[in-house]
Amino acid sequence: MIGAKPRRILITGGNTGLGLALAKKLSRRHSLLLSGRKSQADVADMLPQGAGYVVADQNDPQLSAQALVNGIRDHGWDGLDNVVLNAGTGIAPLNGIDSTEAIRQTLDVNLLSAILQARALFPLLKKSKGTLTLIGSVARSGSATIPVYAASKAGLHGLARALRSEWKGQVSVQVLHPGAAKTDMHDKAGYDPGRMRSVFLEADDVAAMMASAIAARRSPVNLSWVRYLNGGAFTGRRL
Ligand SMILES: NC(=O)c1ccc[n+]([C@@H]2O[C@H](COP(=O)([O-])OP(=O)(O)OC[C@H]3O[C@@H](n4cnc5c(N)ncnc54)[C@H](OP(=O)(O)O)[C@@H]3O)[C@@H](O)[C@H]2O)c1
Repeated sequence: MIGAKPRRILITGGNTGLGLALAKKLSRRHSLLLSGRKSQADVADMLPQGAGYVVADQNDPQLSAQALVNGIRDHGWDGLDNVVLNAGTGIAPLNGIDSTEAIRQTLDVNLLSAILQARALFPLLKKSKGTLTLIGSVARSGSATIPVYAASKAGLHGLARALRSEWKGQVSVQVLHPGAAKTDMHDKAGYDPGRMRSVFLEADDVAAMMASAIAARRSPVNLSWVRYLNGGAFTGRRL
């Protein structure tokens, strides 16, 4: 590897979508450990060469945090330089009403898991004065039709602000808010964006903006069309 020192980077939700696009971007320069809900056998062919993988199902937030800690140990790492808590889900409400189960699942996967994972991974990040990155969404400021998803992302925004201040001098904390991107998330959520999908950002471009925002350690950062049109996917710092 040429240039900056290789970093040990954990990306949750790294087996597809934005997490995988980011992993592919970083895999030539850094050491990666990715997580997801699917089994190793199901994702092995998709992962970048050399990347480790750990199953951490965030439907059980506490177990997912423990699975990450165990996976990092089994991977032979005794510390972390970057953690990107990117795994997330959305569930489109049926007839405009969220079921209690869908509300719980969205908050468990998107918010409670991130809180418990951040807490569990803090000692490993602290060893290298690393950076914790939470992946929110521009929907966090309130989006019609997806109120619970929006609430979970607003929760991540508040969490990042609080931890950024609490962990100051020990671990950098930031939250990045992507705009709509072309991944399978909307289909999985049961939401059809229709013709709007054609103006969604490419996952690779969002990943490029994520990488430079992570290198800059600023927070919060919106990764939307405005940033893209200002060259956000092609300029900025390199991670
Ligand atoms: N795409 C967008 O328009 C958009 C916009 C703003 C923000 N975001 C945010 O960006 C992040 C990545 O989204 P994406 O678009 O890349 O979605 P995606 O393609 O659906 O990927 C989601 C990732 O999260 C993982 N995941 C979902 N449920 C999980 C669970 N219960 N336990 C563990 N892992 C789970 C998935 O793992 P498995 O494949 O193993 O299930 C997958 O790796 C999310 O936090 C999302 O909210 C996306």
